[in-house]
Amino acid sequence: MFENAAAQPIDQIIAISRAYAADKRYDKVDLGIGVYKDSGGETPIMRAVKRAEERLVAEQRTKTYVGVGGDPRFVELMAQAVLPGRQMGQDFAGVQAVGGSGAVRLLAETALRLNPDARFWLPDPTWPNHGAILGAIGAGIERYPWPRFTAAIDIDAILASLDAASPGDCVIVHAGCHNPSGIDPDLAGLRALAEGLVARGLMPFVDAAYIGFGKGWEEDAARVAAIADIAPEMLLALSCSKNFSIYRERTGVALLVGRAGKGLNATMSLLLAIARASYSMPPDHGANVVRTILEDEALRREWLDELADTRDRINRNRAGLALALARARQDIDWTYIDKGYGMFALLDVTEESARRLREEVGVYIIPDGRMNVAAINLDHVDEIAARLVAAL
Ligand code: LMR
Repeated sequence: MFENAAAQPIDQIIAISRAYAADKRYDKVDLGIGVYKDSGGETPIMRAVKRAEERLVAEQRTKTYVGVGGDPRFVELMAQAVLPGRQMGQDFAGVQAVGGSGAVRLLAETALRLNPDARFWLPDPTWPNHGAILGAIGAGIERYPWPRFTAAIDIDAILASLDAASPGDCVIVHAGCHNPSGIDPDLAGLRALAEGLVARGLMPFVDAAYIGFGKGWEEDAARVAAIADIAPEMLLALSCSKNFSIYRERTGVALLVGRAGKGLNATMSLLLAIARASYSMPPDHGANVVRTILEDEALRREWLDELADTRDRINRNRAGLALALARARQDIDWTYIDKGYGMFALLDVTEESARRLREEVGVYIIPDGRMNVAAINLDHVDEIAARLVAAL
């Protein structure tokens, strides 16, 4: 059987990570995979996470199964941290997922089972794994435009391209900190987008992997709530990887936002059946840590403070990089980097330039031009900017 296999292309983000790890140069710079790094180049465990883990080690008495949907209390706490005032079983239902990616996969499979004709509209550009996940389940993929090197977003143009969608199609919307562009509409723009989706009978499929990395936990969550207020139904993938810095614990939530009595419970049973058939039951540790933090007022405050420090550093990095690039190359308007949100910004390079950047000067960015601004050390920002502009 194995002789029938054709080697598959590696996901570009994973490929860049591997290439960086294999590079022996001491002055290499990793702006590849979306992982926050502090000024010492570390991805630290958050203090609140460490404390929650200490508590779990001391108090946990069993490692027996939790259940197919994971811990419902974790799901409820995360959902209500994003959509305050909504009730589990009434206004939403969901399962603990294997990271945000696992949540996207479960929700996409659920949507496709409910509407086998549904096509999935992805922003162009988007996170490459969106296409891979949807391709893996045989879903039809379409694209709608998203800005790359300007902070100006034309919602009317986006909606005009979605005129080609059919009612029941799903539209992936990044809740904020768009990956890879960093360009988000403001709240009014997001509302206009949600209204346009609803008017066309399209299902918002919101990927919220960076809540807390944009303007603040509440402000970022309000973006998700704004869509939920407009759309009668919504698919929502939440990730805890970045905002709790528990990347490898693979912790997320696949959420159905709708109304009890309007198919919510039956759809939840389908979601559970898909989860059971995929991996039986999710891992517990990350969800248990997040639950411990969200249930304890002091830990919650400590976590939010550290998240604010993380966000502030990322924003300083965005501003610092934009200024350094402007010093290195005055004829380009770099303000889109400073005006963007979250970890990522795009550099206007070809794949070939990204390759040269990597191989010749040791700066690792994703071949689509995505840079992880959250990994920049501002002490070296001018040197990094000089290397980046040399590749243009
Ligand atoms: C990224 O976009 O770099 C991260 O979300 C990591 C990943 O899994 O791709």
